[in-house]
Amino acid sequence: MFQHVEAFAGDAIVALNEAFHRDTRPHKVNLSIGIYCDEQGQVPAQHAVCEAEQYLAETRQPKPYLPMEGSTSFRNAMQELLFGAGHEVLAQGRVATVQTVGSSGALKAGAEFICQWFPSSAVWLSDPTWDNHHSLFESAGLSVHSYPYYGADGGLRFDAMLETLRALPRHSVVLLHACCHNPTGVDLTPAQWQLLIPVLQQKALIPFLDLAYQGFGDGLEEDAYAVRALAQSGMCFLLANTLSKSMGVYAERCGALSVVCADAAQAERVLGQLKSTVRQSYFSPPAHGSRVVARVLEDPQLRASWECDLTAMRERIRSLRHQLHAALTRRSPERDFGYLLTQRGMFSYTNFTVQQVRSLRETYAIYLVNSGRMCISGLRADNVERVADAMAAVSVG
Ligand code: LMR
Repeated sequence: MFQHVEAFAGDAIVALNEAFHRDTRPHKVNLSIGIYCDEQGQVPAQHAVCEAEQYLAETRQPKPYLPMEGSTSFRNAMQELLFGAGHEVLAQGRVATVQTVGSSGALKAGAEFICQWFPSSAVWLSDPTWDNHHSLFESAGLSVHSYPYYGADGGLRFDAMLETLRALPRHSVVLLHACCHNPTGVDLTPAQWQLLIPVLQQKALIPFLDLAYQGFGDGLEEDAYAVRALAQSGMCFLLANTLSKSMGVYAERCGALSVVCADAAQAERVLGQLKSTVRQSYFSPPAHGSRVVARVLEDPQLRASWECDLTAMRERIRSLRHQLHAALTRRSPERDFGYLLTQRGMFSYTNFTVQQVRSLRETYAIYLVNSGRMCISGLRADNVERVADAMAAVSVG
């Protein structure tokens, strides 16, 4: 019956992470998957999250189905985090938000929405982007292309990006990383967002923001700059976000898809269509994680505790960037490792070739993604020097 079913080639990032866990070398270093790990190499269990879980256990909340759009308190809390409490798009009821199964679920629901309501629109992704963006949009039936983004000099090809976007057909969908670009760590500055937005507007393009790392760049408010600037411009756009990384609740699959519309009536209809997509797929999202997230965001003490932990994570990543930069500069003073300091968030793009990445993995048990993407939070005070030794060794010749 199933003879014709083909084998799944596997997902490059997940497969690499699995290979790391199978590796028995004690000195191995995991710089592959985008999961924040602490100095002990563990995903930290945040105090606020544990407290919220304790509260939920003690209050023994019943578990009927959530509505198709998800928990109201979770959705409201996510909207406030994204747009800022009282933002006019919220006050005017112009944002349709559904709770989704992670931000992958949000991207997929958004892709299906586009496929249904803008069937002739193609999707444009940054070159490079998170690998799974390609599969998510292609599998929804959309045609996918790339716009210039990352330059060989380690910077942003902003002019080439604008030139490409200016030539796109109306209603083309442009996927933009709102902060902490995955995989390069290269972001638009606020001034560049202000130049980009009129191009999106004039060409009637549909921005689709992906915000998985809010708080890992400069702070929760600062990292929402693109979201708020687009909202301010009056444009309609889609936005996928998650707190998986910032709250360390990866397994709870808590994400959201928000669609900013022209008015409340449009938002109502869009919400209805998103609910229909959810109903046809998994009916309604899981409750536990969304209750934890909402409790943390709504309770002032838990919220303050979470923000404190998030600040510590962000600062630790910055410090690791500086430590690796110094260690590499000591070994190769003639080379410029400034990219480590200018790139933002969890990832840095090293420009290592596939061969160099393989050598790091096979010879030194250091795992990077084949593109040369390095997850900075896998570094630790006790492995930075060894990683720098290995990186210097594979760079020779
Ligand atoms: C990553 O980019 O490593 C993370 O977002 C995990 C994933 O789903 O690939």
